Amino acid sequence: MLHNCDAEKLAHVWLNEASFKAALICLAFILQTTNVFLMIFAPPSNRTMRTKTIRCPSTGTRRTRQAVVDSRSLATETSVKTINKDVVVIGNGPSAITLSYLLSGRWPYYKGMDALGHPPDFLHARLESKPNCSLVLQDLKELSEGLEGRSSNPVALLYDTLNHPDADTGQDLPSLLSWKNHPEHAIDHVVLGRGPPGGSWQAMEGDVLTISRGTWMELANLSFREWEETACERQLGIRQKRASVKHVAQYYHDYVNIKGLRPYFRDSAEVTSVRQLDQVKNVPAESYAPTLWQVTGHVRTVEGLENFQYVTPNVVLAIGGTDRPNSMNVAGENLPFVIKSLQAMEKLISSQQLNRQSEPVLIVGAGLSAADAIIAAHFHGIPIIHVFRRKATDPSLIFGQLPSNMYPEYHKVYQMMKDNGMTYTGYTPMEQCQIVRIQSDGKVCLQGPDYSTKIKVSFVVVLIGSRPSLNFLENKGRDLTVDVTKPISCRNNPLDVDLFTLESNKQPGIYAMGPLVSDNFVRFAQGGALAITRDIHTKLSRLKAKEESFNSAIPSVTAESVSYLDCPT
Ligand SMILES: Cc1cc2nc3c(=O)[nH]c(=O)nc-3n(C[C@H](O)[C@H](O)[C@H](O)COP(=O)(O)OP(=O)(O)OC[C@H]3O[C@@H](n4cnc5c(N)ncnc54)[C@H](O)[C@@H]3O)c2cc1C
Ligand SMILES: *[C@@H]1O[C@H](CO)[C@@H](O)[C@H](O)[C@H]1NC(C)=O
Ligand SMILES: *[C@@H]1O[C@H](CO)[C@@H](O)[C@H](O)[C@H]1NC(C)=O
Repeated sequence: MLHNCDAEKLAHVWLNEASFKAALICLAFILQTTNVFLMIFAPPSNRTMRTKTIRCPSTGTRRTRQAVVDSRSLATETSVKTINKDVVVIGNGPSAITLSYLLSGRWPYYKGMDALGHPPDFLHARLESKPNCSLVLQDLKELSEGLEGRSSNPVALLYDTLNHPDADTGQDLPSLLSWKNHPEHAIDHVVLGRGPPGGSWQAMEGDVLTISRGTWMELANLSFREWEETACERQLGIRQKRASVKHVAQYYHDYVNIKGLRPYFRDSAEVTSVRQLDQVKNVPAESYAPTLWQVTGHVRTVEGLENFQYVTPNVVLAIGGTDRPNSMNVAGENLPFVIKSLQAMEKLISSQQLNRQSEPVLIVGAGLSAADAIIAAHFHGIPIIHVFRRKATDPSLIFGQLPSNMYPEYHKVYQMMKDNGMTYTGYTPMEQCQIVRIQSDGKVCLQGPDYSTKIKVSFVVVLIGSRPSLNFLENKGRDLTVDVTKPISCRNNPLDVDLFTLESNKQPGIYAMGPLVSDNFVRFAQGGALAITRDIHTKLSRLKAKEESFNSAIPSVTAESVSYLDCPT
């Protein structure tokens, strides 16, 4: 029998492939429980934050860096107050939330080997050689050397190896990490995100189930199970390995409050521009003058839009990878009846614009998102034409790779696709088929392997993956990817970053985590927070050491000799 982890492993392949547009709906399953969910999850009355200024714990180094900022020529809008931060995080999904937790001074420690012999001996030996030393202060390159797994980022593997020991062999064991609060190391930061905390999880269809185990969606030092039991009451004995998207989204939202991160978060905030500030001339060579970034945008409030402006040496891009749906590049793609998300289709169904009397809905794609759309439309009795490029029997389709006992809903769709429309009324699969043109009269021209045809449809639902949008950066962020001649792609052309700090190799002070650096799963995205926190903490410590040696009357210590990374001995 395949384990859930195998499914995630395989889904990993697919998530990359389809830029992870997709996961799971099982309306048939869930509808019975929907009412229960709705009762439990009456939306919190005050999900958006409307504070004008963010008050964060002081790091004690504000004044010095403020001076650096002031000495520069700021092209600032006079009406908007500039706020200085040590770090500005863009995006508020699980990646950003984890980063905020670490930046706030909560640091991970190795608890020691468990009874089953995790982690591997070589890693245990390295960790044991520095007892009582947080991972934030350790050499991550050395620690992660020799680890293998499903992420190409060594620190992601290190974190996952310790946080979910042996998860890839189907285990669900306690974390080997413990957490300690170091308020003295809190770094002043702000997290800016479009909606409530939870990022893309807040925008997904809530009744869908996760591909991963629920416990793999959890963040540092808050058990998802325990949270679920208290926040959602016991679910009448139903304990699924997979969690509902709605629960995961609520867990992320609650996490921010439970962990005291609220003051760092600014919800409903859209970043529209990140620009490098002019460098000052005549800076004394010894002084620390990092590149500064100006981050501007607006917060949606009841009164309207309120602009903000931050200046910071460190910008973290944690924007996920779902903001821009992939394009088919065919004529008519932008017509109003062509939609590109499951949520948009659900809205059409609930407003009755799409119903069983409609012309067929044309669903494009053969990933899990397309499958979700088929399940939803089929459930509502809406006639479906399903167009996909590959053959239904193509072994590279994701469906054949998911274990059927864990993912019955997808296996049903898979069956329907292979059945060639014989048994399932109202569903017509068209394999090896592509859209050639969409006409404004609602007719769509299709090209199959040995035919071409024109069909009248009600809506076209295109679910063929997505990519991130870096439009708020200079040159739309095109200079930041590994291959600057190609568009960004979480799978093929991620951002070019240092593996151990996640700082851009192209622009100093710009960091990236999560799908932007090919970590498409929550399990792996979290390790990025460790890499980034370590690097920024190191930078700030170095700066503080220099300041101290400058200010000191005794000319004994040179900045370089300050061993700011030493752990307690
Ligand atoms: C349908 C679906 C199902 C999935 N299922 C699973 C699963 O089962 N298991 C799993 O591990 N992973 C799953 N994933 C992947 C998972 O969503 C990501 O790994 C995870 O959410 C990445 O977290 P993040 O914080 O990096 O980014 P996100 O969660 O994407 O959050 C980034 C946020 O930043 C916002 N943002 C972008 N630009 C700006 C801007 N300019 N200003 C302000 N905000 C901005 C975005 O709108 C978004 O809300 C799934 C993804 C999808 C789409
Ligand atoms: C680590 O810390 C614990 C608790 O603070 C202490 O008992 C132990 O002696 C420390 N170990 C070392 C090697 O410093
Ligand atoms: C981590 O969680 C435990 C258990 O809930 C709690 O006692 C502890 O204080 C937490 N640690 C930190 C650093 O918040």
